[in-house]
Amino acid sequence: MQADIVVLPGDGIGPEVTAAAIAVLNTVGARYGHRFRFEQHLIGGAAIDATGTPLPAETLEAARSADAVLLGAVGGPKWSDPNAKVRPEQGLLAIRKALGLYANLRPVKPHAAALGASPIKPHLLQGVDIMVVRELTGGIYFGRKQRNGDSASDLCEYNADEIRRVVRRAASLARSRSGRLTSVDKANVLETSRLWRDVTTQVVRDEFPDVALEHQLVDSMAMHLIAKPRAYDVIVTENMFGDILTDEASMLAGSLGLLPSASLGEGTVGIYEPIHGSAPDIAGQGIANPYATILSAAMLLRHSLGLDAEAQCVELAVSNALDAGVLTADLADGRPSVGTRAATDAVIAQLQLPCQVMELRD
Ligand code: IPM
Ligand code: MG
Repeated sequence: MQADIVVLPGDGIGPEVTAAAIAVLNTVGARYGHRFRFEQHLIGGAAIDATGTPLPAETLEAARSADAVLLGAVGGPKWSDPNAKVRPEQGLLAIRKALGLYANLRPVKPHAAALGASPIKPHLLQGVDIMVVRELTGGIYFGRKQRNGDSASDLCEYNADEIRRVVRRAASLARSRSGRLTSVDKANVLETSRLWRDVTTQVVRDEFPDVALEHQLVDSMAMHLIAKPRAYDVIVTENMFGDILTDEASMLAGSLGLLPSASLGEGTVGIYEPIHGSAPDIAGQGIANPYATILSAAMLLRHSLGLDAEAQCVELAVSNALDAGVLTADLADGRPSVGTRAATDAVIAQLQLPCQVMELRD
C-alpha cells in the first residue's frame, strides 16, 4: 500500500525518536512492499520559534490530509516562562482537538527484559496486560481558564456524548480482549464524574451486556494499579485522570520510554506518539529510548493503515531486541546500555528475520 505520514518531531528528544520510528517504518515498507511518504512539519516550541505559534495552520492542514501523524514530543525550559502568551503544549492539545481524536489508547505490557527497571516487585508484574483508554479532547484540559489576580480557575466540563463515544471505544476493545472494563472517576466528589458513571453504566448495559464493568475511584485506582496490576484489562477514564494514571502505569513497564500511544477519532487518521515528554536534559545526546516511538509506529500501522500483521512484526522486533539485551540507559539497571541509534538498528535487524505473524498471513 501507499501512505502519506506527517511527522511532527517537536522539541527535545522528539527529532531523535521520530527519526528512529521513520527508519523502522522504511524497513517495514521495503520488506513488505509498502510505500510510506514522510513529510515533516513544525509543532510545539520549534514552531513557536519559527512562526510564533505552536500549531501553524500549514501543520494542521498537512495533518488533516495525511493518512496518519507521527509525533515526537513538545515542550522544554526555553518556552516554560509562566507569563508566556503561548506554550508548546497548546499546539499538542489544539491538534488533538482539531482532528477530533477523543480516544487515546495507551497499552501497558511489561516486558521480561525490563522488569529489573521497574521499582515494583517482578512477581506482581508477570502477566500484566492493560489498555488504558484516556478521553483526550474534553474535561479540565479544555474548559474555560481564568486568572484574576490571586485567584484562578479551570472548568471541568463533560457532556454525555463525549463520554458515550469514548466508553464505546473502550468497551469494544474490552470485548476483543478479556471482556473486563474498569471505569475510573471521582464520583464521590465531582459532578462530571457522576455523569461519567451514569453514562458508562448505561452504555455498557445497553450495548455491551457481555462486558463486565466495574467502577473505581481514581485515588484507590492509583493504589490498586501498583498493588495488583494483573487485576485490570481495559481501563477507561477522563482526560486528566488518564494523563496521571498512565505516567504511573509506565512504572509497571519499567520506563516511560516504553509506552506508546494512539489517539483516535471517528475516521482512520490518528496521532501516534510516545507518552513521554521531550526530555530536554538528554536531548541531542543520542541516548533517548526510541522504543516507545517505534511501538507508536506499530500502532500507526495497525490503526490508521490496517496493517495489523506488520504492526505485530514491529512489536515482536522490539520485544526480541529487548530479549537480546539491547537496553537504553533508562532500562539498563546496572547492565550495559546502548544509545538511540543502536537500539533502532537492533529493531531493524530483527525485522530482517522471518516474522511468524507475516507467514501466517501469507
Ligand atoms: C501527555 C502529555 C501531554 C498531556 C502534555 C505535554 C500536554 O503529558 O500526552 O500525556 O498532558 O496530555
Ligand atoms: Mg502525560
